[in-house]
Amino acid sequence: MKFSRRMFLGAAGAAWASAAPALSSVSAEPRTVRLTARKGAVRLAPEGAGGETPVWCYDGRVPGPLIRARRGETLNVELINRLDEPTSIHWHGLRGANAMDGVPYLTQAPVPPGGAFTYKLETPDAGTFWYHPHIAGSRQLGRGLYGAVIVDAPEPAAADRSVLWVLDDWRLDKNGAVHESFGAAHDASHAGRLGNTAVINGSPRDVFGAVSGERIRLRLLNAANARVFRLKFEDHNPWVIARDGHPAGPYRLPAGGVTLAPGQRADLIIDMTGAPGGEYAVSDSYYPRQTYRLAAFKYAAGPARAPWPEPPRAEAANPVPEPDLRNALPLDMTLEGGAMRGFQTAELNGEEVSFRGAAARGYFWAVNGAVRPPLSPGGPKIPLAEIPLGRTVKARIVNRTAWDHPVHLHGFAFRVLSRSDRAPESGLFDTVLTGPGQEAEIAFVCDRPGDWAFHCHILEHQESGMAGFLRVA
Ligand code: C2O
Ligand code: CU
Repeated sequence: MKFSRRMFLGAAGAAWASAAPALSSVSAEPRTVRLTARKGAVRLAPEGAGGETPVWCYDGRVPGPLIRARRGETLNVELINRLDEPTSIHWHGLRGANAMDGVPYLTQAPVPPGGAFTYKLETPDAGTFWYHPHIAGSRQLGRGLYGAVIVDAPEPAAADRSVLWVLDDWRLDKNGAVHESFGAAHDASHAGRLGNTAVINGSPRDVFGAVSGERIRLRLLNAANARVFRLKFEDHNPWVIARDGHPAGPYRLPAGGVTLAPGQRADLIIDMTGAPGGEYAVSDSYYPRQTYRLAAFKYAAGPARAPWPEPPRAEAANPVPEPDLRNALPLDMTLEGGAMRGFQTAELNGEEVSFRGAAARGYFWAVNGAVRPPLSPGGPKIPLAEIPLGRTVKARIVNRTAWDHPVHLHGFAFRVLSRSDRAPESGLFDTVLTGPGQEAEIAFVCDRPGDWAFHCHILEHQESGMAGFLRVA
């Protein structure tokens, strides 16, 4: 069987999984991992076709190095900043201490150019998580700064191998360079910085080798600034076994496919039931009339292996406290603004401004009547709500805009209790997608103190007012 380049990257990045975890005991000395944020170049076109694209990246790669840990391990991750501007790392979905959350002026000072910061990374939960800067995210992620974190379950669902697909969409100019249109008002006020080149693990769509009869665990992570993906697998019938890192189901993937808003993850088990020699499309159909083939499974000529007889086993739940809905603190999060609807007036740094007035300063969005710019050293730092430690919050997210907003909460995993558009998915999430005019109710236990950020994970929305934080004390 000839591996494509993609296949090689997938296998090298994620290792060939076996039923047994690689190591069985947690060593006393925390491992140290070093990540250098710097400029680099990646080859987007196949070998020989075209040159390299200048990017910003961790250790010269996009995605950055995979951080792989066992559940319950603590790692020291040393970030070295060789960029020309400040940066930080947020550990998306990993429930750790607030001081390690990576949010500038909220949980730490930004790491200046030439500076370093050591994150103490806890891994209480098994699952698929990721890391990325939390300052100038549109530019820093849009140029390639992100990577995956996989925390292995003590007893992972069995599969022949495990593959990671980090999804993104580069916005490239005609020379194949990252388009310099960062900070564009049109992106911020509409759907965000959508790209024009969908990639898996940093490089454009490709074929992915498979053997008839094998079972694959496919970890999907959407690292795009703004693009929502909805993947369908032609003639395959995957199971969902985890969402946003936390075990779910297993249940069969609905016919509509798996939807991944920016920030979201899904772990699938796919029995490779295609015919030897066959090719099957993996398509993305989230945006109306824009379905395209993202990738394809290309089967080796043969022979087929015996198919797996049993459905996948559920993995053990992570130790996330269950919301106490009878004593929950209600919280409203009303999202307003953006092109088409705007808002009447909103507060911006203590002043009342019109939508035009806010737009003139580059802000387009408000949460509960206030535009919330990224925090700054001297600026206001007012929580959306103060929550007693240990309390359950039941938040109602109301999207009064004409746009999608994947709302991401730091620090806590939540259940989706209801949605106005359809039945909620079961499981635990850190990001929930709300469509235009839609509502979602979520519940979570505020079991760790600190100032915990929330924001729209469309990074151009986050930076133009759709953000804030909860204070848990
Ligand atoms: Cu993945 Cu606050 O972000
Ligand atoms: Cu948004």
